[in-house]
Amino acid sequence: MKPVGVGFSLHPETEYLTLCRPIIEEEADFFEVVPETLWQIHQDGSLSGSPWWDLMQGIRQRSGKPFVCHGLGLSPGTSDATADEARLAHWLDQLRRDQQHFEFLWYTEHLGWMEASGLVADLPLPLPPTEESVRTVARRLQRLQPIIPLVGFENQVSYFAFTDIRTEAGFWNRICQAGDLWLLLDLHNCYTQCVNFGVPLDEYLAGLDLSRVIEVHLSGGSESEPGWLPSGRVMRLDSHDGPVPEPVWQAFASIRPRCPNLRGVVVERLDGSIQPDEMPLLRDEVRRARRIFWEG
Ligand SMILES: [Fe+2]
Repeated sequence: MKPVGVGFSLHPETEYLTLCRPIIEEEADFFEVVPETLWQIHQDGSLSGSPWWDLMQGIRQRSGKPFVCHGLGLSPGTSDATADEARLAHWLDQLRRDQQHFEFLWYTEHLGWMEASGLVADLPLPLPPTEESVRTVARRLQRLQPIIPLVGFENQVSYFAFTDIRTEAGFWNRICQAGDLWLLLDLHNCYTQCVNFGVPLDEYLAGLDLSRVIEVHLSGGSESEPGWLPSGRVMRLDSHDGPVPEPVWQAFASIRPRCPNLRGVVVERLDGSIQPDEMPLLRDEVRRARRIFWEG
């Protein structure tokens, strides 16, 4: 497993790409894309690349840098019994075509479920940490392995918990073992869970098998409005719209030497959340991530 370095997310948004151009051209070692944001859907449900797909392919050819895939629409927690097989077949067909052109180094999906018996959620919802969930996620993600051999999933923020959140690392370990899968460890998601549930970050990560971590995400977030909940309680959000908090940096520096198969780290920032005067900070974050990645 050869390390690649520091990656950067390519969102299909002109202002973001223009603002981030110096980072894209001078700092990034690889690029991460959400494949569904580069697709268009046709009346029969089939998919094809949009003009954004062509633009990303142009970046790949000009830069000569590798791409990785960070999917949002597979819904790995969906069971075979409640899945829309026709939709999945179109989705896999387009991913197969993408792989021929992008040669993604690895694929990660958001842990959770978005689809069940015709109902569709906008974002992945949390899964109970049961053996049935382990089997379901492993089986569904394994359907990608013939297309892209290295497949993983990203830990999520849940905002409510089925049980003590300290059991989540064990849940991820079991999924990795069941499907020969990898973990995209989003450390800001870990931090957000810990802030919201009052658990120390080192305790949350204590049981994690770090040998399965293939990629790390670093990002920032904000807080919910007090008026959102009847109690007035404020929650930390995984909104990807601010600087990386210091405890997240510390967690990355702490785990990095113990992640023998880590191939890349991505500083995530949502399109539309960045102003021109924040660019020096974002560039510094990318450079700090590189230092920790290579030097520990
Ligand atoms: Fe992430």
